[in-house]
Amino acid sequence: MCGIFGYTGKRSDGGSVVVDGLKNLEYRGYDSWGVACKTPSGISVSKDIGKISSVDTKQFSYSCCLALAHTRWATHGGVTPENAHPHLSKDGTIAVVHNGIVENHEALRLELLTKGYTFVSQTDTEVIPYCIEEEMKAGHAFPEAVRRACLRFHGRYAILAMHEASGMLVATRTGSPLIVGVGEDGYYIASDIPAFIEHTRTVQYIDDGEMVETDGNSIQFRDILTGTERQKREVRITWTVEQGQKGDFPHFMLKEIMDQKESIARAVNQDDDAIRAVAEAIRSAKGTFLVGCGTAHKACMAAEYFFSVVAEHHVNVCSAGEFKLYHHFLQPESLLIVVSQSGETADVLEAISVAKAKGAKVLAIVNVEGSSVSRAADYTLLINAGPERAVASTKALTGQMSVMLLIAYALKHALHDGKTLLLETSALINDMLNPRYVERIAAIAAKIKSHEDLYIIGKSWHYPMALESAIKIQEVSYVHAEGFAGGELKHGPIALIETGTPCIALLGNDEVTGDMINNATELKARGAMLIGIAPERNAIFDEWLKTPDAGAAQPIVTVIPMQILAYELAVQRGKDPDMPRNLAKSVTVK
Ligand code: F6R
Repeated sequence: MCGIFGYTGKRSDGGSVVVDGLKNLEYRGYDSWGVACKTPSGISVSKDIGKISSVDTKQFSYSCCLALAHTRWATHGGVTPENAHPHLSKDGTIAVVHNGIVENHEALRLELLTKGYTFVSQTDTEVIPYCIEEEMKAGHAFPEAVRRACLRFHGRYAILAMHEASGMLVATRTGSPLIVGVGEDGYYIASDIPAFIEHTRTVQYIDDGEMVETDGNSIQFRDILTGTERQKREVRITWTVEQGQKGDFPHFMLKEIMDQKESIARAVNQDDDAIRAVAEAIRSAKGTFLVGCGTAHKACMAAEYFFSVVAEHHVNVCSAGEFKLYHHFLQPESLLIVVSQSGETADVLEAISVAKAKGAKVLAIVNVEGSSVSRAADYTLLINAGPERAVASTKALTGQMSVMLLIAYALKHALHDGKTLLLETSALINDMLNPRYVERIAAIAAKIKSHEDLYIIGKSWHYPMALESAIKIQEVSYVHAEGFAGGELKHGPIALIETGTPCIALLGNDEVTGDMINNATELKARGAMLIGIAPERNAIFDEWLKTPDAGAAQPIVTVIPMQILAYELAVQRGKDPDMPRNLAKSVTVK
């Protein structure tokens, strides 16, 4: 939700640095963009609606050592140039970009109106530079003015503010991510590491309730509440620049789907003792709860089947946004397992607070090291998928499922078997993802792309994959796709099936295959155009996409052709799969 990036230091190309860096954060928001640069004649602001990726960086090649920029995902106020950030103080000497929501902005707006401020946007953000300006008028230096202004704001947010006269950059964090990149040539402050990874891989994390102030030569961390200084250690990031690049692929989504040739093996490359310790924690917990949002929630649903089928162990699964309702069931001996690619999802962070309030322990399964979720949890397992840039989550899902399948095997005291299975599965996926396979899926997409409704069925661990496939298709191709448990159809949804309606059946080679064939036959009898995604061909399939037989890892294999189908449907329908409308990656608002 919104990308923030600021730079201050010795470089004279600060404007280009922040614009280029923000192009790497566009997954966070892409309805509008804006840049503020300190120039000899004052703060120069450029902003507009549209994507920052289409902005020519050269226009910011003038000399500038202090700059900040923003990509927006609108919350308050429509998508207009006026509502785009940065927003300026009345005297034009302070520029602010902001992620999150100032919940009491209306009251502040009324107060500021009585003090002679006028508002040019409908955003909640515009109160921020005005409040800072008021504090400066009261005699406070810029960093202290920012701190004092922040004490007035309610809600979860990250703010980056620059001041012309002092040349200072100040960042504050209360709920939304902000990370400092420590370079040899200055300081980079961004919502996420890909913004500055080509300049430095040394970072310092800003924690909730903290602020930083820098003049480009040194940096101070402070507590927002008290203003007291805090010490921070530097951390080296393991992600490489190349991992976050598109390479020869037309889109990040396709690149990240193809990354699954290797990312599952990386997910499985866990420390055996750590996995066994997690299994032991689950075994001794009084109730284990798996939570996540969207795709990560579907990974948790699949894991429920892994724990049941592989380890015969009961776990509870819940969407993170609904977890509050579970607090009655939590005890200090309960275990919460939170699953999140970004590690910044607001509902997941709230679920952690709910569990912690009851004294329960929290395990995080995340992709982004050092993320808020990881730092709030008691233990973390990284899925090692590498940066995921497309809004639609693909390789993170299969990494999350792989780690949870591994834990299920460890719970059965068979960790080695789990590792072997997943490494064999990784090799099967490597073979499956060849150009002919993708062409075959593209041909199926071409046959169904003009249909506006599509249904996907699955049973057992393929049921969450049917739900996940529907999310993927909805979000990137805008086709109305719905996933169902195979047996549910005749309880209502089958009324929607007409002659030619595309329906997809996800099957493995397992105890529910026979039932699934029956469910698929029911669809076929109503005229459905039936696509089978399965290890074995069946006469009822109009189209068959073969998947390798991967035993308990079958749902990990099955979902991959569905990701490719979603991608192909998007591209063939003329949509940009990397930046679906209305969405942003990393949902930092509830
Ligand atoms: C869908 C998708 C979202 C995310 C969800 C949780 O493709 O990407 O549904 O899975 O917003 O995000 P994380 O995993 O970052 O917590």
